[in-house]
Amino acid sequence: MAHLVEEYLDAGLEEAVRRAVRKLKGVFALVVISSSAPELIVSARNGPPLVIGMGEGEYLVASDVPAVLGLTRKVLHLDDGQLAVISPQGARMTDFAGKRQPLRVKKITWDATMAEKDGFKHFMLKEIYEQPRAVTDTFRGRLSLEPGGVFLDELGLKPERLRRFKKVHLVACGTSWHAALVGKFLIEGLAGMPAEVDWASEYRYRDPITSRDVLTVAISQSGETADTLAAMREAKSKSSPVVSICNVVGSMMTRGSKGVVYTHAGPEIGVASTKAFTTQLTALILLALHLGQVRRHLTRKQVRELGAELMRIPGKMESILRRDADIAAIARRTARASNYLFLGRGINYPIALEGALKLKEISYIHAEGYSGGEMKHGPIALIDSKMPVLTLVVHDKVRQKMTSNMEEAQARGATLIAITDDGRHPSMHKAEEVFTVPRTSPWLYPLLLSLPLQLLAYHVADIRGCDIDQPRNLAKSVTVE
Ligand code: M6R
Repeated sequence: MAHLVEEYLDAGLEEAVRRAVRKLKGVFALVVISSSAPELIVSARNGPPLVIGMGEGEYLVASDVPAVLGLTRKVLHLDDGQLAVISPQGARMTDFAGKRQPLRVKKITWDATMAEKDGFKHFMLKEIYEQPRAVTDTFRGRLSLEPGGVFLDELGLKPERLRRFKKVHLVACGTSWHAALVGKFLIEGLAGMPAEVDWASEYRYRDPITSRDVLTVAISQSGETADTLAAMREAKSKSSPVVSICNVVGSMMTRGSKGVVYTHAGPEIGVASTKAFTTQLTALILLALHLGQVRRHLTRKQVRELGAELMRIPGKMESILRRDADIAAIARRTARASNYLFLGRGINYPIALEGALKLKEISYIHAEGYSGGEMKHGPIALIDSKMPVLTLVVHDKVRQKMTSNMEEAQARGATLIAITDDGRHPSMHKAEEVFTVPRTSPWLYPLLLSLPLQLLAYHVADIRGCDIDQPRNLAKSVTVE
């Protein structure tokens, strides 16, 4: 790329970069300087994120907002196909053809100190502990108990339009995809609408059947995941309105959506997503309640009751965090295992998947997440005395089924761990380790069960001496395919 720019340098640095990027194929985010124009910085974007921080008498170019937060809160986001030129006279922006573009400066409200570890050993641990606040910030101002309602004007879709949708498609990757799976249960159960979930990477290539009657909901912490952005383009090309659930203001995804439900998690630095996940779950609960209320599938009383219980979740999360030492003890017992199995059912089955993902991402232990109902169809063959089996057992209609899973795992000598809302239940005698979470509504257990699983992954990885905040081979946002 540097050589290509050099070929056009006679036209001046700005024009040379413009001509060069028109020839490039693929994705890129460039910052170009040249000794021939020492007062210019030219940057261009097609794909990966690029932001310009506007400081006091200085400009900064970075790939993400937290990098500039220590120096300024005023930032400018480049869109795909945009080129920015910084000179002592200021910043200006054009498209790749040279047409002038408006400068849309945004003020970031995150505090720079929020991006520091705050006394915790790792960002991941700090972020796990921030969840009660992050969840509160996500429902605050959107939920009212009197008379009972959820307000999501930011969806950009009026109640009449929301009533006309026949289906919801949720698209996402990784942990956000697990949130989408929980979202399916919520939307079907609380709004009475059929919901489908896709990995964004599959959706974009499978020629999905969609239309203006389908609401597409894209979920992403970063708002810059290449596959999710491509899935959004696919949905839009087939006339499906796209809204997003996202944590990063001004990210590519939010600029390509009809409406955005922001998760107010604050900056998430640890590569393994934690508070972004539980705030996505919170946003999905609000979305499902909102759809249920405008489509008259739920009564005001039902919205009020679930809303009131959602407001109690942060306090219940605090009570789990206070017992972190109990999870650390389970971690010490199982940290040397080579394989781990996580089982859940119903709305908590995606939490088993997420627990397994967290563990494998940061501890490098091979972990499988399964629906308890599938255990007999294959994974049971893996179970022996060396394998910890973690089960999620709460008061819901599949509780008895999960208890049978526990019996089967116990009979094969597994180290059986139960995360439950009733540690005194007779069935819990089967488990070698029991951790009890507070009782809540069946719709809200994913929010509580996530915490012990995040803490378990964290402590296991810490015992194994892993690089928790920056696990090998992983990046915070996957901006390429
Ligand atoms: O930024 P996104 O939510 O779109 O990212 C999606 C995945 O890449 C992400 O969730 C990934 O799986 C995390 N490392 C999970 O901890």
